[in-house]
Amino acid sequence: MESSRPFCWPLLAFLILSSFVAQTHGRMKEQCSLYRYKATLLKPDFGVDTSHFKVIEHGINETNVYPQEGFKEQDRIERLPGQPPVNFSQYGGYITVNKSAGRALYYYFVEAQQPNDTLPLLLWLNGGIYIYMPPGFSSLGYGAMQELGPFRVHNDSKTLFTNKFSWNHVANVLFLESPAGVGFSYSNTTSDYDNTGDRSTTTDNYVFLVNWFERFPEYKNRTFYISGRDYAGHHVPQLAQTILYHNKKANKTIINLKGIIIGNAVINDETDIKGTYDSLAGHVFASDLEASQIQKYCGFSLNASRRSPECTAAIDAVEGDIANGLDLYNLYAPICFPKGDTVQHIEASVLEFADPCSFDYVYAYLNRPDVQEALHANVTKLTHDWDICSSFIKKWKDSPSTVIPLLRELMANGLRVWIYSGDLDGTVSFTSTKYSINSMKLPVKNDWSPWAYFAEVGGYTEEYEGGLNFVTVRLAGQQVPKDQPGKAFVLIKHFLDGTPLPVLVQN
Ligand SMILES: *[C@@H]1O[C@H](CO)[C@@H](O)[C@H](O)[C@H]1NC(C)=O
Ligand SMILES: *[C@@H]1O[C@H](CO)[C@@H](O)[C@H](O)[C@H]1NC(C)=O
Ligand SMILES: *[C@@H]1O[C@H](CO)[C@@H](O)[C@H](O)[C@H]1NC(C)=O
Ligand SMILES: *[C@@H]1O[C@H](CO)[C@@H](O)[C@H](O)[C@H]1NC(C)=O
Ligand SMILES: *[C@@H]1O[C@H](CO)[C@@H](O)[C@H](O)[C@H]1NC(C)=O
Ligand SMILES: *[C@@H]1O[C@H](CO)[C@@H](O)[C@H](O)[C@H]1NC(C)=O
Ligand SMILES: *[C@@H]1O[C@H](CO)[C@@H](O)[C@H](O)[C@H]1NC(C)=O
Ligand SMILES: *[C@@H]1O[C@H](CO)[C@@H](O)[C@H](O)[C@H]1NC(C)=O
Repeated sequence: MESSRPFCWPLLAFLILSSFVAQTHGRMKEQCSLYRYKATLLKPDFGVDTSHFKVIEHGINETNVYPQEGFKEQDRIERLPGQPPVNFSQYGGYITVNKSAGRALYYYFVEAQQPNDTLPLLLWLNGGIYIYMPPGFSSLGYGAMQELGPFRVHNDSKTLFTNKFSWNHVANVLFLESPAGVGFSYSNTTSDYDNTGDRSTTTDNYVFLVNWFERFPEYKNRTFYISGRDYAGHHVPQLAQTILYHNKKANKTIINLKGIIIGNAVINDETDIKGTYDSLAGHVFASDLEASQIQKYCGFSLNASRRSPECTAAIDAVEGDIANGLDLYNLYAPICFPKGDTVQHIEASVLEFADPCSFDYVYAYLNRPDVQEALHANVTKLTHDWDICSSFIKKWKDSPSTVIPLLRELMANGLRVWIYSGDLDGTVSFTSTKYSINSMKLPVKNDWSPWAYFAEVGGYTEEYEGGLNFVTVRLAGQQVPKDQPGKAFVLIKHFLDGTPLPVLVQN
């Protein structure tokens, strides 16, 4: 760690998360190797950045809009290998976001199951682990194939099954692998991977969108929403702000953005990190003594310049509690064991949807040449495997410590802003999100109350003046649509419709 750098709180969370990733994904050869070893923890690439995010104009103008005629039909996916029959159209392909650098982003687009000219367009962005190791998780491998997309991969890694709770029952859903270096997205200028950060990611995402609308002009005036989880708590509001900015500048609606929805999202470092430890202690994952020592010795100010030895010891103690045998993305979920391991494989009774080994099936499936061909992915024959997290982006140039001013700006412009939280996540817990929202000091419009999933408590919701709605999802971790697909579907439907969540009928 550079001595001049203010101490970076997210580092602590990385200590925890690294063990989680090593635990759950560690057996993949070369896979996400950067995340696997604690040795890499000592090379932080970004520190505390308290500057507010500002739209960059440079690099976004008509010179980035390239002709798109004819590409849409080329991108049509006839059928994915092993796919059950469906009635909706799928597309996949690349959009160049910077010609001179040779930078292109991969997208996968599924139209709605019932053709309908009024159903909205919904963009999904996976964020990544938000720690000082660069974010960069695949929206195809996580979002589309394990969370909210129309298909899941069977444990044979060859055939797909239908997700009956797919969000494309209520929207046309666009999955974007972003930034370049994530999933199938790439740059021919490898130095781009060292120059990635919130700003460059937002610029590329915006240029992607403008060009995507040229390729799919029938969606140009469509009601548009942006969704995502984890570090997409940064990407989503930043992209939304950029869209508003350009609409205003052009004095016309270039993109018809109506709202955003983010889940277990990184929005305000100070409260997010404090909440992580309070949440672990509030569950059974840390002792009261450890928790009180963390509170006493660490503090959670972003300005704390150095970690004291007492604080280090307290953090190490918590880390020891959760170092092995847990999935921090869902503290109460079964974990995946390698086949042939002495440890018993997960019981077959585990709901197929939330199979903790689903990552392995997706990894094998997306690396098959016939699958890549069907997806129109990897057309430039990249030299590395497809992976769920980027091992190229080794630096992250800028990461403001908060996006709360952006959320306020979006609300002031009349956008719908929903923040949801799976209540079993050990990374960005509901406690973190509660603290972060509380720090906004918004007047409450509708008090905290349960919402209904059939006769069950789906979770809790509290609505604030100005268009913010906080929703928890009961018995879900960070990957809410994976853990609780039915509840996630109710959530997204009501978000898109702009209607309150169902009320629990009292007996
Ligand atoms: C394209 O990307 C390069 C970095 O690889 C950057 O220097 C250049 O300004 C970008 N061009 C545009 C038009 O954004
Ligand atoms: C558009 O952006 C490019 C690259 O940043 C710049 O060279 C050019 O002057 C810009 N054009 C306009 C009309 O702003
Ligand atoms: C596709 O649509 C046809 C005609 O509406 C229907 O009979 C069939 O069941 C649908 N198939 C699927 C997989 O939904
Ligand atoms: C299209 O979707 C809208 C919004 O969900 C709905 O109100 C409308 O009835 C649908 N139209 C058709 C033809 O299904
Ligand atoms: C694969 O899933 C099926 C049920 O769909 C189950 O019977 C079988 O045991 C699973 N195989 C492995 C290796 O997990
Ligand atoms: C913006 O457009 C509206 C019409 O859509 C027009 O009345 C108004 O004068 C325009 N404002 C500017 C600053 O050009
Ligand atoms: C950190 O300290 C500096 C100088 O003491 C102050 O200007 C800044 O506002 C502080 N930042 C935060 C996030 O408290
Ligand atoms: C792309 O294709 C090449 C050649 O088939 C393969 O070696 C590589 O693993 C693939 N990369 C990705 C990212 O899919």
